[in-house]
Amino acid sequence: MSSLENFRICFIGGGNMAESLIAGLINNHCPANNINVSDPNTKQLTKIKEHYSINVFSSNQLAITDADIIILAVKPQIMKEVATGLIDSLKSDQLIVSIAAGITCQNLQTWLPAESPLIRIMPNTPAQVQSGVSALYATPAVNQSQKEMTDIIFKAVGSNVWFDDEHKLHAVTAISGSGPAYFLLMIEAMENAAIDLGLEPDQARELSIKTGLGAAKLAQESTESPALLRENITSPGGTTEQALNQFEQGQLRTLVKQATRAAYEKSIELSEQLGGSK
Ligand SMILES: NC(=O)c1ccc[n+]([C@@H]2O[C@H](COP(=O)([O-])OP(=O)(O)OC[C@H]3O[C@@H](n4cnc5c(N)ncnc54)[C@H](OP(=O)(O)O)[C@@H]3O)[C@@H](O)[C@H]2O)c1
Repeated sequence: MSSLENFRICFIGGGNMAESLIAGLINNHCPANNINVSDPNTKQLTKIKEHYSINVFSSNQLAITDADIIILAVKPQIMKEVATGLIDSLKSDQLIVSIAAGITCQNLQTWLPAESPLIRIMPNTPAQVQSGVSALYATPAVNQSQKEMTDIIFKAVGSNVWFDDEHKLHAVTAISGSGPAYFLLMIEAMENAAIDLGLEPDQARELSIKTGLGAAKLAQESTESPALLRENITSPGGTTEQALNQFEQGQLRTLVKQATRAAYEKSIELSEQLGGSK
């Protein structure tokens, strides 16, 4: 059975998302010596080295030498430069994973050796607290054990949902990629409303955050749908019904559809711009 102890993992780019993954891996008993990170930012490298005792490199080519899986965790704008810089050092059995928003497997196939096994992943920011959800898409060149390895690695920061159709990652971007910001906006609005109703700011924040956490946990652990759970706590003529009527009159559902559609369309537009240079 595969476990984190069996893989050598290399991160190209040691920024926010790489650091979240590294923290999750170390928390899940991945040996620090199995992790390499390469980044031109020496301050960031020193910080990561001191914190996690992993292997750090300033050369991407040297960092990937002994890796089973290479996770490209750089900004989308420099992905082409980074990918093409690896070509001469890559081995055909090394799995390449990209977490860059908007960069397609087709783009990567143009920049990397054509036969390279590729997985594209859209993680989200709650990965920082090991509560993320990642969407994963593998090209046909990826074998089952490489899929299992990737699944284990990304489960270190949350849960995974696999997709057969890469185009669906635009919808994923609009839901789970950008979604943490939507829920944070709701928490922020609840907090402001609570202060308006006379609560102290610290009370308003704690009640809003814990209510969001509790509702999500209830939805996750219950066998009932979120809609039914909501109905169950909405007594006819009660306070919740009064508030929900206001949300319905304000067309909250339509607004959510419009907002996610706008994010979806932006994802397609950005992807076309980013991948434009072959
Ligand atoms: N953060 C998120 O929530 C999130 C969610 C989903 C997907 N992603 C994707 O994850 C990727 C990384 O995002 P991030 O937020 O972690 O960005 P970040 O914090 O800016 O990290 C990127 C790191 O790559 C380094 N870098 C720059 N050029 C490099 C090169 N040639 N070789 C190796 N490393 C290089 C950067 O160094 P410098 O600082 O010196 O430039 C930086 O430390 C992005 O493609 C993003 O689309 C992020």
